[in-house]
Amino acid sequence: MELPFSESYKIKMIEQLKRSTREQREEWIKEAQYNLFKLSSDKVFIDLLTDSGTGAMSDRQWAAIMTGDESYAGARSFFELKSTVQKIMGFEYMLPTHQGRAAENVLFSVLIKEGDIVPGNSHFDTTKGHIEFRKAKAVDCTIDEAFDTTLDHPFKGNIDIEKLEKVYKEYPREKIPCCVVTVTCNSSGGQPVSIANLREVSQLSKKYGVPVLFDSARFSENAYFLKMREPEFKNWTIKEIVREMYKYADMATMSSKKDGLVNIGGFIGLHSEEIYRQACTFNIMFEGYITYGGMSGRDMAALAVGLDESTEFEYLETRIKQIEYLGNKLIEYGVPIQYPIGGHAIFVDANKILPNVPKEQFRAQTLGVELYIEGGIRGVEIGAILADRDPVTRENRFPKLELLRLAIPRRVYTNNHMDYIAAALKNVFDRRHQIKSGLEITWEAPIMRHFTVEMKKA
Ligand code: F0G
Repeated sequence: MELPFSESYKIKMIEQLKRSTREQREEWIKEAQYNLFKLSSDKVFIDLLTDSGTGAMSDRQWAAIMTGDESYAGARSFFELKSTVQKIMGFEYMLPTHQGRAAENVLFSVLIKEGDIVPGNSHFDTTKGHIEFRKAKAVDCTIDEAFDTTLDHPFKGNIDIEKLEKVYKEYPREKIPCCVVTVTCNSSGGQPVSIANLREVSQLSKKYGVPVLFDSARFSENAYFLKMREPEFKNWTIKEIVREMYKYADMATMSSKKDGLVNIGGFIGLHSEEIYRQACTFNIMFEGYITYGGMSGRDMAALAVGLDESTEFEYLETRIKQIEYLGNKLIEYGVPIQYPIGGHAIFVDANKILPNVPKEQFRAQTLGVELYIEGGIRGVEIGAILADRDPVTRENRFPKLELLRLAIPRRVYTNNHMDYIAAALKNVFDRRHQIKSGLEITWEAPIMRHFTVEMKKA
């Protein structure tokens, strides 16, 4: 008999989960004004709100915590982290920050000014936020294939080279501070970017003198997909593939809360001494001294180990196979999800499940609330609530896709939990025709409303 696949680790510490009844959950979600962010975590059985900072550290990482050097300047833990980043990504200069958006804030303070244009592949919300906050504009150059959830394409995170060149031709070089490539691309569904594409982006950007910046939050998951899908890399180690990827990056921002396998942290990676010097000043102002930048010594020590572990094939295989396991179960049940299955989450297509709910009543949020009531599972809406209102007309924006994201924390849940999630979603799917109305907003903040929005049943 062929031996089945099994996880590449065993469990040393557990955390008790709290079960609840459907009646309790109906009450709690009403009290939370139908906003999943407002639920306290003890009211959630399986938490898929995000894969950011929610992972489990290894025994090696916890051991490293005890060795953390908490010196204000020149901590040994900083040098351990710096040499790990250099070894894995090849950057000479590294500045720690407290998380990914802080790295964006520091680096963009050097790079971006009013009126600038920043092309890329579906910039993440905070990245776009930091660009727009500086009165610059993010231009999405992702390939068109990425926006059809049913289309099979191995690299839906790829940049459309023609779209990118159009931007380079349209604006003068001094208006384009960088091109942001997000690996894997969260906003297009955790989809990878191929090396062939990175090479083309790098070549074209060099021609026009524009530096390439990798938003690196899920860089090792990207490398795993390259090994599996780009024949050139079939026999390479993940660390070799990562080094190859980063040959095409001039700089990087990192949210260590994802592929750094830690609960908090971030950094900036650079080759340019000039940009590093300028960024140091902003790091000191916003984050902390240049050798800790908002992180404790012990957290830097754990991150150095986390980066090493997340670039090992065994870890990544277990990780990605778990997402595929859940995705394939849902496909088997007929639940419409974004295809192919991405790196860190399953994206459920709410437009296809709840067409009877008027789009003005927020289909993906309605589906998220139903899934919570069904099984105590918390996902996150990636749809009209997140898309917010048009800044000029103040009308609701209705994006093409209404998705419920189920993000899987790293090394936290077992495949029994995946079976539970799939069954709960199947139950909601089976009674979809009975769900005819959604939610109405009773209060919202002027921007970033999804975090604090208050709603009632329509
Ligand atoms: N870039 C990407 C691609 C991200 O997914 C995130 C965060 C950030 C940058 C910002 O990093 O949270 O450390 O400040 N994504 C989380 C998510 C919040 O749920 O997808 P951060």
